[in-house]
Amino acid sequence: MPKSPLLLVFAFLFLSCLYHISTATNVTATNLSQQFKEAPQFYNSPDCPSTTNDLEEGEDDGDDDSNNNNNNVVCSESAVHVAMTLDTQYLRGSMAAILSVLQHTSCPENVFFHFVASASSANASLLRATLSSSFPYLKFQVYRFDDSHVSGLISTSIRSALDCPLNYARSYLANLLPLCVRQVVYLDSDLILVDDIAKLSATPLGDSSVLAAPEYCNANFTSYFTPTFWSNPSLSLTFANRKACYFNTGVMVIDLDRWRAGDYTKQIEDWMELQKRMRIYELGSLPPFMLVFAGKIASVNHRWNQHGLGGDNFRGLCRDLHPGPVSLLHWSGKGKPWARLDANRPCPLDALWAPYDLLQTPFALDS
Ligand SMILES: *[C@@H]1O[C@H](CO)[C@@H](O)[C@H](O)[C@H]1NC(C)=O
Ligand SMILES: *[C@@H]1O[C@H](CO)[C@@H](O)[C@H](O)[C@H]1NC(C)=O
Ligand SMILES: *[C@@H]1O[C@H](CO)[C@@H](O)[C@H](O)[C@H]1NC(C)=O
Ligand SMILES: *[C@@H]1O[C@H](CO)[C@@H](O)[C@H](O)[C@H]1NC(C)=O
Repeated sequence: MPKSPLLLVFAFLFLSCLYHISTATNVTATNLSQQFKEAPQFYNSPDCPSTTNDLEEGEDDGDDDSNNNNNNVVCSESAVHVAMTLDTQYLRGSMAAILSVLQHTSCPENVFFHFVASASSANASLLRATLSSSFPYLKFQVYRFDDSHVSGLISTSIRSALDCPLNYARSYLANLLPLCVRQVVYLDSDLILVDDIAKLSATPLGDSSVLAAPEYCNANFTSYFTPTFWSNPSLSLTFANRKACYFNTGVMVIDLDRWRAGDYTKQIEDWMELQKRMRIYELGSLPPFMLVFAGKIASVNHRWNQHGLGGDNFRGLCRDLHPGPVSLLHWSGKGKPWARLDANRPCPLDALWAPYDLLQTPFALDS
Protein backbone atom coordinates (compact mmCIF):
# COMPACT_ATOMS: atom_id res chain seq x y z
CA MET A 1 0.00 0.00 0.00
CA PRO A 2 1.26 3.49 -0.75
CA LYS A 3 2.27 5.61 2.21
CA SER A 4 0.58 8.93 2.76
CA PRO A 5 0.73 10.79 -0.52
CA LEU A 6 3.81 12.77 -1.24
CA LEU A 7 2.68 16.29 -1.65
CA LEU A 8 4.23 19.07 -3.56
CA VAL A 9 3.30 22.68 -3.40
CA PHE A 10 3.47 23.95 -6.87
CA ALA A 11 3.77 27.70 -7.11
CA PHE A 12 3.02 29.00 -10.52
CA LEU A 13 5.18 32.01 -11.20
CA PHE A 14 4.04 32.74 -14.67
CA LEU A 15 0.76 33.40 -16.34
CA SER A 16 0.20 30.77 -18.94
CA CYS A 17 -0.76 32.04 -22.32
CA LEU A 18 -3.71 29.66 -22.15
CA TYR A 19 -5.31 31.38 -19.20
CA HIS A 20 -7.89 33.29 -21.11
CA ILE A 21 -9.65 30.21 -22.43
CA SER A 22 -10.78 29.30 -18.96
CA THR A 23 -14.16 30.80 -18.25
CA ALA A 24 -15.09 28.85 -15.16
CA THR A 25 -12.35 30.03 -12.82
CA ASN A 26 -10.94 33.40 -11.86
CA VAL A 27 -7.40 33.32 -13.11
CA THR A 28 -6.35 36.89 -12.52
CA ALA A 29 -3.88 35.89 -9.80
CA THR A 30 -0.31 35.56 -10.94
CA ASN A 31 0.30 32.40 -8.94
CA LEU A 32 -1.67 29.35 -8.08
CA SER A 33 -1.03 26.44 -5.83
CA GLN A 34 -1.85 22.92 -6.87
CA GLN A 35 -1.05 19.75 -5.02
CA PHE A 36 -1.25 16.41 -6.74
CA LYS A 37 -1.67 12.96 -5.28
CA GLU A 38 0.80 10.21 -5.94
CA ALA A 39 -0.44 7.73 -8.53
CA PRO A 40 -0.13 4.02 -7.79
CA GLN A 41 2.71 2.08 -9.38
CA PHE A 42 1.72 0.10 -12.46
CA TYR A 43 3.40 -3.16 -13.44
CA ASN A 44 3.86 -4.96 -16.73
CA SER A 45 1.86 -8.10 -17.29
CA PRO A 46 4.09 -11.20 -17.61
CA ASP A 47 3.95 -11.39 -21.40
CA CYS A 48 5.24 -7.85 -22.01
CA PRO A 49 8.42 -7.58 -24.09
CA SER A 50 11.43 -6.40 -22.13
CA THR A 51 12.71 -2.92 -22.84
CA THR A 52 16.17 -3.53 -21.43
CA ASN A 53 17.30 -6.82 -22.98
CA ASP A 54 17.89 -5.38 -26.40
CA LEU A 55 20.37 -2.80 -25.11
CA GLU A 56 23.69 -2.80 -23.32
CA GLU A 57 23.31 -1.96 -19.66
CA GLY A 58 25.43 0.66 -17.95
CA GLU A 59 25.44 3.25 -20.71
CA ASP A 60 23.97 5.87 -18.46
CA ASP A 61 26.57 8.58 -18.30
CA GLY A 62 24.74 10.31 -15.50
CA ASP A 63 25.22 13.85 -16.66
CA ASP A 64 21.71 14.59 -17.57
CA ASP A 65 18.91 14.91 -15.09
CA SER A 66 16.65 12.25 -16.53
CA ASN A 67 15.59 9.15 -14.64
CA ASN A 68 18.37 6.63 -14.28
CA ASN A 69 16.74 4.00 -16.41
CA ASN A 70 15.68 6.38 -19.18
CA ASN A 71 18.59 5.79 -21.49
CA ASN A 72 18.03 2.06 -21.48
CA VAL A 73 14.39 2.36 -22.36
CA VAL A 74 14.11 5.29 -24.70
CA CYS A 75 15.87 3.56 -27.58
CA SER A 76 14.33 0.16 -26.97
CA GLU A 77 12.37 -1.41 -29.83
CA SER A 78 9.74 -2.46 -27.29
CA ALA A 79 9.07 1.03 -25.94
CA VAL A 80 5.77 2.73 -26.67
CA HIS A 81 6.40 6.45 -27.10
CA VAL A 82 3.93 9.13 -26.10
CA ALA A 83 4.48 12.85 -26.66
CA MET A 84 2.52 15.57 -24.88
CA THR A 85 2.98 19.24 -24.11
CA LEU A 86 3.34 20.35 -20.52
CA ASP A 87 2.32 23.70 -19.14
CA THR A 88 0.96 25.12 -15.94
CA GLN A 89 -2.56 25.71 -17.17
CA TYR A 90 -3.15 22.19 -18.49
CA LEU A 91 -1.03 20.33 -15.95
CA ARG A 92 -4.08 18.85 -14.24
CA GLY A 93 -5.31 17.55 -17.57
CA SER A 94 -1.89 16.14 -18.44
CA MET A 95 -1.69 14.29 -15.12
CA ALA A 96 -5.09 12.71 -15.72
CA ALA A 97 -4.10 11.73 -19.26
CA ILE A 98 -0.88 10.09 -18.06
CA LEU A 99 -2.74 8.16 -15.37
CA SER A 100 -5.31 6.95 -17.89
CA VAL A 101 -2.57 5.75 -20.26
CA LEU A 102 -0.82 3.78 -17.52
CA GLN A 103 -4.00 2.35 -16.11
CA HIS A 104 -5.28 0.90 -19.37
CA THR A 105 -2.14 -0.51 -20.92
CA SER A 106 -0.92 -4.07 -20.37
CA CYS A 107 2.70 -2.93 -20.40
CA PRO A 108 2.83 0.36 -18.45
CA GLU A 109 6.56 -0.01 -17.75
CA ASN A 110 7.22 0.06 -21.49
CA VAL A 111 5.60 3.45 -22.03
CA PHE A 112 8.01 6.34 -22.38
CA PHE A 113 6.66 9.88 -22.16
CA HIS A 114 8.18 12.81 -24.00
CA PHE A 115 6.98 16.14 -22.59
CA VAL A 116 7.50 19.40 -24.40
CA ALA A 117 7.52 22.47 -22.16
CA SER A 118 7.84 26.05 -23.20
CA ALA A 119 11.33 27.36 -22.54
CA SER A 120 10.07 30.87 -21.85
CA SER A 121 6.79 30.75 -19.99
CA ALA A 122 6.78 27.44 -18.16
CA ASN A 123 9.09 26.48 -15.37
CA ALA A 124 10.35 23.19 -16.72
CA SER A 125 12.10 22.10 -13.54
CA LEU A 126 9.00 22.65 -11.44
CA LEU A 127 6.88 20.78 -13.94
CA ARG A 128 9.39 17.96 -13.94
CA ALA A 129 9.41 17.82 -10.13
CA THR A 130 5.62 17.74 -10.00
CA LEU A 131 5.50 14.87 -12.46
CA SER A 132 8.17 12.93 -10.59
CA SER A 133 6.40 13.22 -7.29
CA SER A 134 3.05 12.08 -8.64
CA PHE A 135 4.55 9.42 -10.90
CA PRO A 136 7.78 8.29 -9.20
CA TYR A 137 8.13 5.37 -11.61
CA LEU A 138 7.34 7.21 -14.81
CA LYS A 139 9.84 7.00 -17.64
CA PHE A 140 9.96 10.43 -19.18
CA GLN A 141 12.03 13.25 -20.55
CA VAL A 142 11.16 16.95 -20.63
CA TYR A 143 12.21 18.94 -23.66
CA ARG A 144 12.36 22.72 -23.71
CA PHE A 145 10.58 24.23 -26.66
CA ASP A 146 11.86 27.58 -27.77
CA ASP A 147 8.75 29.67 -28.40
CA SER A 148 10.62 31.93 -30.76
CA HIS A 149 10.58 29.03 -33.28
CA VAL A 150 6.96 29.79 -33.94
CA SER A 151 5.90 33.00 -32.25
CA GLY A 152 6.91 34.95 -35.34
CA LEU A 153 4.88 32.58 -37.50
CA ILE A 154 1.62 32.74 -35.59
CA SER A 155 -1.22 34.93 -36.72
CA THR A 156 -4.26 35.51 -34.57
CA SER A 157 -7.13 33.06 -34.87
CA ILE A 158 -10.73 33.01 -33.71
CA ARG A 159 -9.79 31.47 -30.40
CA SER A 160 -6.67 33.25 -29.22
CA ALA A 161 -5.77 30.36 -26.93
CA LEU A 162 -5.02 28.35 -30.05
CA ASP A 163 -2.18 30.74 -30.73
CA CYS A 164 -0.19 29.66 -27.72
CA PRO A 165 3.20 28.69 -29.18
CA LEU A 166 3.17 25.35 -27.37
CA ASN A 167 0.22 24.32 -29.53
CA TYR A 168 2.67 24.18 -32.39
CA ALA A 169 5.17 21.97 -30.56
CA ARG A 170 3.62 18.90 -32.20
CA SER A 171 5.14 20.09 -35.48
CA TYR A 172 8.62 19.94 -33.95
CA LEU A 173 8.62 16.51 -32.32
CA ALA A 174 10.88 15.09 -35.00
CA ASN A 175 13.52 17.69 -34.11
CA LEU A 176 13.08 17.49 -30.34
CA LEU A 177 12.96 13.74 -29.71
CA PRO A 178 16.03 11.48 -29.91
CA LEU A 179 16.73 10.02 -33.35
CA CYS A 180 16.22 6.48 -32.06
CA VAL A 181 12.56 7.30 -31.43
CA ARG A 182 10.98 6.40 -34.72
CA GLN A 183 7.27 6.38 -33.98
CA VAL A 184 5.36 8.38 -31.41
CA VAL A 185 1.77 8.91 -30.35
CA TYR A 186 1.04 12.59 -29.87
CA LEU A 187 -1.72 13.32 -27.35
CA ASP A 188 -3.39 16.55 -26.29
CA SER A 189 -3.68 17.22 -22.55
CA ASP A 190 -7.49 17.33 -22.44
CA LEU A 191 -8.18 13.66 -23.00
CA ILE A 192 -8.18 10.27 -21.32
CA LEU A 193 -7.63 6.80 -22.71
CA VAL A 194 -9.81 3.89 -21.71
CA ASP A 195 -7.97 1.36 -23.89
CA ASP A 196 -4.39 0.16 -24.42
CA ILE A 197 -2.18 2.85 -25.97
CA ALA A 198 0.02 0.09 -27.42
CA LYS A 199 -2.80 -0.72 -29.86
CA LEU A 200 -2.93 2.86 -31.07
CA SER A 201 0.85 3.08 -31.24
CA ALA A 202 0.97 -0.04 -33.41
CA THR A 203 -1.26 1.51 -36.10
CA PRO A 204 0.19 0.49 -39.47
CA LEU A 205 1.20 3.51 -41.52
CA GLY A 206 1.36 1.70 -44.85
CA ASP A 207 4.01 2.28 -47.48
CA SER A 208 4.30 6.02 -47.24
CA SER A 209 2.05 7.70 -44.69
CA VAL A 210 3.79 9.98 -42.23
CA LEU A 211 0.96 10.06 -39.78
CA ALA A 212 -2.19 8.27 -38.78
CA ALA A 213 -5.32 9.72 -37.19
CA PRO A 214 -9.07 9.24 -37.30
CA GLU A 215 -10.50 10.97 -40.40
CA TYR A 216 -13.88 12.69 -40.58
CA CYS A 217 -14.94 12.86 -44.18
CA ASN A 218 -18.45 14.10 -43.34
CA ALA A 219 -17.06 17.32 -41.86
CA ASN A 220 -17.19 20.29 -44.21
CA PHE A 221 -13.55 20.48 -45.25
CA THR A 222 -14.12 23.67 -47.24
CA SER A 223 -14.95 25.62 -44.11
CA TYR A 224 -11.46 25.28 -42.61
CA PHE A 225 -9.99 27.49 -45.32
CA THR A 226 -10.93 30.97 -46.45
CA PRO A 227 -12.55 32.00 -49.75
CA THR A 228 -9.17 33.60 -50.51
CA PHE A 229 -7.61 30.16 -50.39
CA TRP A 230 -10.24 28.40 -52.49
CA SER A 231 -10.42 31.17 -55.09
CA ASN A 232 -6.68 31.08 -55.72
CA PRO A 233 -6.01 28.14 -58.05
CA SER A 234 -2.33 27.89 -57.19
CA LEU A 235 -3.36 27.36 -53.57
CA SER A 236 -6.52 25.27 -53.87
CA LEU A 237 -4.73 22.90 -56.25
CA THR A 238 -2.89 21.73 -53.13
CA PHE A 239 -5.82 19.40 -52.58
CA ALA A 240 -6.18 18.26 -56.21
CA ASN A 241 -6.08 14.46 -56.48
CA ARG A 242 -6.26 14.12 -52.71
CA LYS A 243 -9.28 12.77 -50.89
CA ALA A 244 -8.77 15.37 -48.19
CA CYS A 245 -10.79 14.95 -45.01
CA TYR A 246 -10.73 16.72 -41.69
CA PHE A 247 -8.70 15.10 -38.95
CA ASN A 248 -8.08 16.23 -35.38
CA THR A 249 -4.43 16.87 -34.53
CA GLY A 250 -4.96 16.12 -30.84
CA VAL A 251 -4.40 12.40 -31.38
CA MET A 252 -1.87 11.36 -34.00
CA VAL A 253 0.52 8.51 -34.61
CA ILE A 254 3.63 9.97 -36.23
CA ASP A 255 6.38 8.16 -38.10
CA LEU A 256 9.29 10.36 -37.07
CA ASP A 257 11.75 8.78 -39.52
CA ARG A 258 9.51 9.68 -42.45
CA TRP A 259 8.79 13.07 -40.96
CA ARG A 260 12.50 13.82 -40.67
CA ALA A 261 13.22 12.51 -44.17
CA GLY A 262 10.52 14.70 -45.70
CA ASP A 263 11.27 17.75 -43.53
CA TYR A 264 7.58 18.23 -42.88
CA THR A 265 8.31 20.79 -40.19
CA LYS A 266 9.53 23.08 -42.95
CA GLN A 267 6.42 22.43 -45.06
CA ILE A 268 4.17 23.37 -42.14
CA GLU A 269 6.23 26.49 -41.47
CA ASP A 270 5.97 27.51 -45.12
CA TRP A 271 2.16 27.47 -44.89
CA MET A 272 2.32 29.47 -41.66
CA GLU A 273 4.52 32.02 -43.42
CA LEU A 274 1.95 32.31 -46.18
CA GLN A 275 -0.86 32.67 -43.66
CA LYS A 276 0.90 35.72 -42.24
CA ARG A 277 0.86 37.38 -45.64
CA MET A 278 -2.63 36.38 -46.79
CA ARG A 279 -5.34 34.88 -44.61
CA ILE A 280 -5.87 31.37 -45.98
CA TYR A 281 -7.37 29.70 -42.90
CA GLU A 282 -8.89 30.52 -39.53
CA LEU A 283 -8.15 28.03 -36.81
CA GLY A 284 -4.68 27.90 -35.23
CA SER A 285 -2.35 24.96 -35.67
CA LEU A 286 -4.75 22.59 -37.39
CA PRO A 287 -4.99 23.90 -40.98
CA PRO A 288 -1.24 23.74 -41.73
CA PHE A 289 -1.37 20.07 -40.75
CA MET A 290 -4.31 19.53 -43.08
CA LEU A 291 -2.60 21.38 -45.90
CA VAL A 292 0.40 19.09 -45.66
CA PHE A 293 -1.22 15.79 -44.73
CA ALA A 294 -4.98 15.65 -45.39
CA GLY A 295 -5.82 12.88 -47.81
CA LYS A 296 -2.43 11.26 -47.26
CA ILE A 297 -2.78 9.94 -43.74
CA ALA A 298 -3.39 6.41 -42.55
CA SER A 299 -6.81 5.97 -41.04
CA VAL A 300 -7.44 5.18 -37.41
CA ASN A 301 -10.75 3.95 -36.03
CA HIS A 302 -12.89 6.78 -34.68
CA ARG A 303 -12.95 5.10 -31.28
CA TRP A 304 -9.46 6.58 -30.73
CA ASN A 305 -10.62 10.16 -30.77
CA GLN A 306 -14.08 10.81 -29.43
CA HIS A 307 -13.45 14.54 -29.72
CA GLY A 308 -15.47 17.67 -29.13
CA LEU A 309 -16.49 16.84 -25.56
CA GLY A 310 -15.43 20.34 -24.49
CA GLY A 311 -18.31 21.77 -26.48
CA ASP A 312 -18.33 24.31 -29.25
CA ASN A 313 -15.90 27.20 -29.43
CA PHE A 314 -18.47 29.89 -28.76
CA ARG A 315 -20.82 28.73 -26.03
CA GLY A 316 -19.21 25.60 -24.59
CA LEU A 317 -22.42 23.56 -24.78
CA CYS A 318 -22.25 19.95 -23.59
CA ARG A 319 -21.69 17.40 -26.30
CA ASP A 320 -22.53 13.74 -26.42
CA LEU A 321 -20.37 10.88 -27.63
CA HIS A 322 -20.40 9.99 -31.30
CA PRO A 323 -21.97 6.59 -31.96
CA GLY A 324 -19.69 3.57 -31.71
CA PRO A 325 -17.08 2.16 -29.34
CA VAL A 326 -14.80 4.40 -27.26
CA SER A 327 -11.08 4.01 -26.61
CA LEU A 328 -10.23 7.67 -26.03
CA LEU A 329 -12.32 10.61 -24.80
CA HIS A 330 -11.19 14.06 -25.88
CA TRP A 331 -12.50 17.28 -24.37
CA SER A 332 -11.50 19.41 -27.34
CA GLY A 333 -13.44 22.65 -27.63
CA LYS A 334 -13.94 25.46 -25.22
CA GLY A 335 -14.92 23.71 -21.98
CA LYS A 336 -12.54 21.57 -19.94
CA PRO A 337 -13.83 18.94 -17.52
CA TRP A 338 -11.71 20.10 -14.56
CA ALA A 339 -12.92 23.68 -14.90
CA ARG A 340 -16.56 22.62 -15.20
CA LEU A 341 -16.28 20.23 -12.26
CA ASP A 342 -14.66 22.97 -10.13
CA ALA A 343 -17.44 25.36 -11.07
CA ASN A 344 -20.10 22.79 -10.21
CA ARG A 345 -21.38 22.97 -13.76
CA PRO A 346 -20.17 19.65 -15.19
CA CYS A 347 -21.39 18.12 -18.40
CA PRO A 348 -22.61 14.53 -17.98
CA LEU A 349 -19.51 13.04 -19.61
CA ASP A 350 -17.17 14.97 -17.30
CA ALA A 351 -17.93 12.26 -14.75
CA LEU A 352 -15.79 9.95 -16.90
CA TRP A 353 -12.79 12.27 -16.53
CA ALA A 354 -13.11 12.76 -12.77
CA PRO A 355 -11.71 9.35 -11.68
CA TYR A 356 -8.38 10.24 -13.31
CA ASP A 357 -8.06 13.60 -11.57
CA LEU A 358 -4.97 13.59 -9.34
CA LEU A 359 -5.52 17.04 -7.87
CA GLN A 360 -5.32 16.90 -4.12
CA THR A 361 -8.20 18.81 -2.61
CA PRO A 362 -7.31 20.83 0.51
CA PHE A 363 -9.84 19.02 2.66
CA ALA A 364 -8.57 15.52 1.98
CA LEU A 365 -4.88 15.87 2.80
CA ASP A 366 -4.85 13.13 5.41
CA SER A 367 -7.11 10.77 3.47
C1 LIG B 1 -11.13 37.77 -9.73
O1 LIG B 1 -10.43 37.99 -8.51
C2 LIG B 1 -9.97 39.33 -8.33
C3 LIG B 1 -9.12 39.39 -7.09
O2 LIG B 1 -9.66 38.61 -6.06
C4 LIG B 1 -11.17 40.25 -8.32
O3 LIG B 1 -10.75 41.59 -8.15
C5 LIG B 1 -11.95 40.12 -9.60
O4 LIG B 1 -13.12 40.91 -9.54
C6 LIG B 1 -12.32 38.66 -9.85
N1 LIG B 1 -12.91 38.57 -11.18
C7 LIG B 1 -13.99 37.85 -11.42
C8 LIG B 1 -14.44 37.82 -12.84
O5 LIG B 1 -14.58 37.23 -10.55
C1 LIG C 1 1.97 34.84 -4.93
O1 LIG C 1 2.67 34.08 -3.97
C2 LIG C 1 3.46 34.86 -3.08
C3 LIG C 1 4.25 33.90 -2.20
O2 LIG C 1 3.49 32.79 -1.84
C4 LIG C 1 2.54 35.80 -2.27
O3 LIG C 1 3.33 36.60 -1.41
C5 LIG C 1 1.80 36.69 -3.24
O4 LIG C 1 0.88 37.50 -2.55
C6 LIG C 1 1.03 35.85 -4.26
N1 LIG C 1 0.43 36.72 -5.25
C7 LIG C 1 -0.83 36.61 -5.61
C8 LIG C 1 -1.29 37.59 -6.63
O5 LIG C 1 -1.59 35.77 -5.16
C1 LIG D 1 11.85 27.48 -11.63
O1 LIG D 1 11.44 27.64 -10.29
C2 LIG D 1 12.43 27.38 -9.34
C3 LIG D 1 11.81 27.46 -7.96
O2 LIG D 1 10.98 28.56 -7.84
C4 LIG D 1 13.56 28.37 -9.54
O3 LIG D 1 14.62 28.07 -8.62
C5 LIG D 1 14.08 28.25 -10.97
O4 LIG D 1 15.07 29.24 -11.18
C6 LIG D 1 12.97 28.43 -11.97
N1 LIG D 1 13.45 28.21 -13.30
C7 LIG D 1 13.17 29.01 -14.33
C8 LIG D 1 13.71 28.60 -15.64
O5 LIG D 1 12.48 30.00 -14.20
C1 LIG E 1 -19.21 24.12 -46.44
O1 LIG E 1 -18.63 25.32 -45.98
C2 LIG E 1 -18.61 26.34 -46.97
C3 LIG E 1 -17.82 27.52 -46.42
O2 LIG E 1 -18.06 27.69 -45.04
C4 LIG E 1 -20.04 26.70 -47.35
O3 LIG E 1 -20.03 27.72 -48.33
C5 LIG E 1 -20.73 25.46 -47.91
O4 LIG E 1 -22.06 25.74 -48.18
C6 LIG E 1 -20.64 24.33 -46.91
N1 LIG E 1 -21.14 23.11 -47.53
C7 LIG E 1 -22.00 22.31 -46.93
C8 LIG E 1 -22.39 21.08 -47.68
O5 LIG E 1 -22.47 22.56 -45.84
